[in-house]
Amino acid sequence: MRIVSGIQPTGNLHLGNYLGAIRNWVRMQDEAQARGGQCLYFLADLHAISMPHVPADLASNTREMVAALVACGIDPERSILFNQAQVPQHSELQWLLNGTARMGWLNRMTQWKDKAGKNREGASVALFTYPVLQAADVLLYQATHVPVGDDQKQHLELARDIAQKFNNDFGSEQAPVFTLPEPFIPPEAARIMSLRDGSAKMSKSDPSDMSRINLTDDADTIMQKVKKAKTDPEPLPSEKSGLEGRPEAANLVSIYAAMAGEDVPAVLSRFGGEGFGRFKPALGEVLVERLAPINARFMELRRDRDALDAILKAGADKARALALPTLDAAYRALGLVRG
Ligand code: TYM
Repeated sequence: MRIVSGIQPTGNLHLGNYLGAIRNWVRMQDEAQARGGQCLYFLADLHAISMPHVPADLASNTREMVAALVACGIDPERSILFNQAQVPQHSELQWLLNGTARMGWLNRMTQWKDKAGKNREGASVALFTYPVLQAADVLLYQATHVPVGDDQKQHLELARDIAQKFNNDFGSEQAPVFTLPEPFIPPEAARIMSLRDGSAKMSKSDPSDMSRINLTDDADTIMQKVKKAKTDPEPLPSEKSGLEGRPEAANLVSIYAAMAGEDVPAVLSRFGGEGFGRFKPALGEVLVERLAPINARFMELRRDRDALDAILKAGADKARALALPTLDAAYRALGLVRG
């Protein structure tokens, strides 16, 4: 069992990242340990340069994201925690995979279509080839499971397609070069939506900070954001089916369920028939209660820049050692002579 996943160090960690992915990263540490496996979690800083960015912010966001992940429960003693930029094998493998990935596959990626918008000519080449680097990220370590939110599913299907074609074209049935990774997407909370618009996902790139709960928000800010969250005028239903066609209500109920560790029917059996005037303060309280310890730990960890750099360096050293055999195998399979 080899678990690999990444997050872009752009802006703050928000509730969507936490419930869609990071919470599973933390849980999978125990499972991997029990089964003699290994977890590798990284900051996708190389992916972050596919969009316009401020270099000084990228550097500080990278360190802050390490602090946030450790505050959430990622243990750098048990998991390998690092940033791509210190493991050049990611970029090397990407180049090798560029020979296998097809333009047509990349053209179909919804993230490319959304982020490039109408200005494809002006988009960076990195934004287009982004999913090939993502494939390299997981194939480099022979990942078996990749815990992510729903929005990364298409990228992981592409990683499987690339691995399969590479194995077919250059490997042998007895000795495939790459393992096909399985996405691991939580059945609930796979797609947390914006607090201002139930049809848009909660995202770091939304210009309105009111659209998301950041893991660094203090109690007052959380209560305020929940209070101002968009809703409809109806009371909550007592059955799950009653949430259909009510995206904002459905989102708030799923957030409550995920944070309280309950399922949606259990939440509705308690709050069915109640208006948001009663539900919202209860939701705010659950959020504050669960996020306060993470927030406190984050505030402490972020102060020690040297300690954060040491975590990244130690993680990168371990990641490079694990990456080398697969990278060598890929070079060899392609017939590239390296002395
Ligand atoms: P990123 O940085 O956008 O998000 C990190 C993780 O958080 C999940 N996520 C969400 N889950 C539920 N609801 C939401 N609103 C929400 N927003 C984000 C994402 O699905 C993701 O799991 N391309 C990736 C980073 C990456 C990666 C990889 C992931 C690079 N290489 C290899 C896995 C494997 C990204 O930009 O995630």
